[in-house]
Amino acid sequence: MINGEKIVDQPIRWAMIGGGRGSQIGYIHRSAALRDANFELVAGAFDVDPERGKDFGINCHVDPDRCYPDYKTLIEEEAKRPDGVQAVSIATPNFTHFEIAKAALEAGLHVYCEKPLCFTTEEAEELEALVKKTGKVMFISYGYCGHQMIEQARQMIARGDLGKIRIVNMQFAHGAHNVAVEKKSGSTAWRVDPKKAGPAYVLGDVGTHMVYLSEAMMPDMNIKRLMCSKQSFVEGRQLEDNAMTIMEYDNGAVGYIWSSCVNAGSEFGARFRIVGEKASIAWDVEHPNQLAYEVQGKPQSVMQRGAGYLYPEAVADDRIGGGHPEGLFESWSNLYTRFAKAIDKNEKGEEIDFWYPDIHAGVLGVKWVEKCAQSGDQGGAWIDF
Ligand code: NAI
Repeated sequence: MINGEKIVDQPIRWAMIGGGRGSQIGYIHRSAALRDANFELVAGAFDVDPERGKDFGINCHVDPDRCYPDYKTLIEEEAKRPDGVQAVSIATPNFTHFEIAKAALEAGLHVYCEKPLCFTTEEAEELEALVKKTGKVMFISYGYCGHQMIEQARQMIARGDLGKIRIVNMQFAHGAHNVAVEKKSGSTAWRVDPKKAGPAYVLGDVGTHMVYLSEAMMPDMNIKRLMCSKQSFVEGRQLEDNAMTIMEYDNGAVGYIWSSCVNAGSEFGARFRIVGEKASIAWDVEHPNQLAYEVQGKPQSVMQRGAGYLYPEAVADDRIGGGHPEGLFESWSNLYTRFAKAIDKNEKGEEIDFWYPDIHAGVLGVKWVEKCAQSGDQGGAWIDF
């Protein structure tokens, strides 16, 4: 159980790059990192607009001298201080991740980077090599994998409660961009611009979350090959706003991920069903406290977060016991707790003996997007993974 007692000797000196005023994802990074006092926000280059970024940082109680105009100045100036930052979170649009993550790692910082990690597998592997070389901790921001019921699912699958996995059926299909909202929203405009979003829109923006959830729950299953059909339904979009991907795994299982932003009427539409030879589990991001468990020939059951019958690995992340709902903020806080623990162990030279969305998760997501785009461009051809 997490109760806020310290897990690191001193709060980790932490900075944010991006995530400033008006950004979609900045606040949840701050609220998750600062939740258990494992981190202290001491510096930032919060905004592409330096003045707005500084004003924002000051409003977040950051020393004005440590609110920098850009990430390069932040890294350079902080390196000169005896109390300079130890870790940064990167919450900027996709096209900036690679260069910022590379610079931060090269400067000896631990990094928490938004997904998708970068544009190409080649870049992702370069970052992977850099993580290995520098020995720093790198987290990829797959925020849903910190939910307790994801850990419960992982443990159930590992213990054979479902039997051998046959079908992985997933979707992240919301309807929020069923018309050209990019004409009015800056946050959507860069997402549909290939120069800023990368080789794909929904595949990278939402599909990668599901790819990583499948990896988190079934780490022993590897994608062998995939095929993808992608469409741009809204006129003027160069990148796909809908994609359907079928995957074959090396254990004989088959998987499906529907990635979409044009699923009209769907608020979020992020859910999965994992089918084993004797039972299935199902989970919905909008109802994260429940995990359906359906054994063939028995009454269906719904497991509840915080309950005593969950596996201990799932209960370890509990914060308030059963009954009261936990949600996305707790999932992210659990992940930032793991980031703090990983940094602490890394700096003490101890082995990191727990899982988290590491650089491998970043490479996997980028490779998946790249292969899906390749398949889609070839009219849905099967592509080896
Ligand atoms: P946004 O467009 O709403 O905000 C981007 C922020 O970064 C703004 O504050 C902007 O001023 C700042 N910025 C842009 N370029 C910068 C630079 N060079 N240096 C410093 N600051 C800069 O974007 P949003 O939606 O917050 O997405 C940011 C990233 O987070 C994307 O990679 C996106 O894929 C990811 N994301 C992840 C989610 C998750 O669940 N893990 C959910 C939403 C977004």
